[in-house]
Amino acid sequence: MAEYTIQFNKPAMLGNEIAYIQQAITNGHISGDGEFTRKCHAWFESELGVAKALLTTSCTHALEMAALLLDLQPGDEIILPSFTFVSTANAFVLRGARPVFADIRPDTLNLDESQLERLVTPRTRAVVPVHYAGVGCEMDAILEIAGRRRIVVIEDNAHGLFGEYRGKKLGTFGSLATQSFHETKNLTCGEGGALLINDPQYIGRAEILREKGTDRSRFFRGQVDKYTWVDVGSSYLPSDILAAFLYAQLEHWQEIQQKRRQIWEFYAANLGDWAEANGVRLPVVPVHCQHPYHLFYLLFPSLDNRQAFIQHLCRKGILAVFHYLPLHLSEMGRRYGGQAGDCPVTEQVSDRLVRLPFYYSLSPTDLEMVLEAIVQFKGS
Ligand SMILES: Cc1ncc(COP(=O)(O)O)c(C=O)c1O
Repeated sequence: MAEYTIQFNKPAMLGNEIAYIQQAITNGHISGDGEFTRKCHAWFESELGVAKALLTTSCTHALEMAALLLDLQPGDEIILPSFTFVSTANAFVLRGARPVFADIRPDTLNLDESQLERLVTPRTRAVVPVHYAGVGCEMDAILEIAGRRRIVVIEDNAHGLFGEYRGKKLGTFGSLATQSFHETKNLTCGEGGALLINDPQYIGRAEILREKGTDRSRFFRGQVDKYTWVDVGSSYLPSDILAAFLYAQLEHWQEIQQKRRQIWEFYAANLGDWAEANGVRLPVVPVHCQHPYHLFYLLFPSLDNRQAFIQHLCRKGILAVFHYLPLHLSEMGRRYGGQAGDCPVTEQVSDRLVRLPFYYSLSPTDLEMVLEAIVQFKGS
């Protein structure tokens, strides 16, 4: 990474991260569910209006908790986009479920809701819409089909904290939703995540699964006089040191979002002419979606073109990166029957997409440098 003048990502530091970590240590509680974890939970519950928020060690682990909560049986099916991170599938595969890959819409690159009905079978247990770049999936249609076919909706909202669909916050649509605080996300604690629970029937069991299958949460609240093994489970709760870091960021979320908005708008405002002249497509955000300025991508006309662009920026000391490889064509995806041509939009987009440098401390001078390098690239 060191050879790049402008990296792809740098985690934001807002100021109180170290002080709060120090405070967690002084409190004498650095294991899970200490003061800062409780503050983070309260923040998510009040800002998003979810019934319950539980911090986890990653979004991957929040997805694994969601899979455990569904009590999946071998052969149960989960519908998810092929254009996503491996954890969206793996969390369910770990429980013996079969991933069923849907293609994405060519505009928002989100799960194509028009394919959903066709993919539902009597074995379908859940659909996992991924709000790519934090732009909301077509939740009206997805919720309607899921409700009618009695399947659970689990939002993978790794990108979408602060995003909205028709004025309602992402992460509040599904029975369950998952967040990521990995260092590439708008708000971070290095590695971290959260399970958001909108359907209260899952709350009690989620607390148990997260605490090694024990009723320790009830014990700490004084609801039982000793705690014991009551269910399956694992250890999904982060140290309060990580929660302290995250809380410092939550307190300054508006500052982070404001800065990211400026960066996104700079790219959008300055790349239009160049994009049109070079057959490059910029992100599409429908009017009913408010996105959280998570990433800025460019869609090139071809794989060769995209690779030449990445090389061009690299020579200028700028790191730009591609994104997901189609899951249905991965080694694991093929074991579930995935074949070339199953998800044509995913296959094309995966070859042609590149993400531009995008992080809180990217300065106006850095942005000018990136812009100058981009517009020097002539596609064909
Ligand atoms: C859509 C999506 N889901 C899940 C994850 C996994 O997140 P984490 O690294 O917090 O486990 C990622 C990672 O970036 C992602 O992009």
